[in-house]
Amino acid sequence: MKERLEKMRGEFTAQLNGAASPEEAEKVRVAFLGKKGALTEVLKGMKDLTPDERREVGALSNTLKDEFEKLIAARMATLGRVEIEKQLAAEWQDISWPSGLKRGAAHPVAVIRRRVKDIFISMGFEVLDGPEMEEEEFNFNKLNIPPDHPARDSQDTFWLTDGKLLRTHTSPVQVHGMLSHTPPFKFIAPGKVYRNEAVDASHEHTFHQIEGMVVDKNISVAHLIYSMKTLLTGIFEKEVEVRLRPGFFPFVEPGFELDIKCLICGGKGCSVCKQGGWLELMPCGMVHPNVLRHGGIDPEEFSGFAFGLGLERLVMMKYGIDDIRLFHGADLRFFTQF
Ligand code: DAH
Repeated sequence: MKERLEKMRGEFTAQLNGAASPEEAEKVRVAFLGKKGALTEVLKGMKDLTPDERREVGALSNTLKDEFEKLIAARMATLGRVEIEKQLAAEWQDISWPSGLKRGAAHPVAVIRRRVKDIFISMGFEVLDGPEMEEEEFNFNKLNIPPDHPARDSQDTFWLTDGKLLRTHTSPVQVHGMLSHTPPFKFIAPGKVYRNEAVDASHEHTFHQIEGMVVDKNISVAHLIYSMKTLLTGIFEKEVEVRLRPGFFPFVEPGFELDIKCLICGGKGCSVCKQGGWLELMPCGMVHPNVLRHGGIDPEEFSGFAFGLGLERLVMMKYGIDDIRLFHGADLRFFTQF
């Protein structure tokens, strides 16, 4: 019987080492220590032994039982760890690995609008907002554009059913600004504007302007030129030459078209400036006395300048974009370049 027990130790060790999972180790435990297990069977046969033999075999089998239990526990622990490691290896994921999502980018119009705002804020300008659904009174009449004025023709208007309209320019914010401020003041008003136009490479029905207005005592054209040069040098990141040509807008007198020296050829003449050496960039002028009056400001005491920057035009010049329709397109190859 002692021999059987010694042999059993060998068999047990071999089988336990062969177990590849906690389940298999459990089977080995049942085979030896279970109710019908090999060791249990041996113990059942003890009743036929002499008392001396029984003591000896009993001690040996108890030692074996302890030993088996300890070995099983150790084996289980090892196999459990192996199991977890296997699972970890199978389910491992590198969370830093790019998931295939494309990185977004700011729209070029937003990029330049932000820069223009920063530049004017650094010069002490306030940033105002105004309604996109506007009264005819603010979009036209108070800006010195009465109902029969030909200037209305150049701004084909989307009329709303309640008599309001979608603002055709940001200039009505001049009037809101004058009515809510007392001079001296200076502000810009960035925003969307709408025109009922056929869309082509240089025309859109929806685009962006940044209106600007400065009112104080003794404001002159020199202040206007200085502010515009500061803006353009900041945007184009180099010294930009500007010139003023006469331009007509009912809400300014005198009114100007501000040109910049062609950034491509430096003024020598090229295909971008159509050999002229200059590019038309921005209408502006000295605020018309009627407009100041409509804003509750005495033109005898105060004067001011105003400008209406076409944002898309500026962005197109800055980045050399030749089709305004790209801004409302969905081509990510275009949008991720800026
Ligand atoms: N509001 C004009 C337009 O959209 C542009 C403009 C011209 C604005 C002259 C101004 C200005 O402030 O002084 O056509």
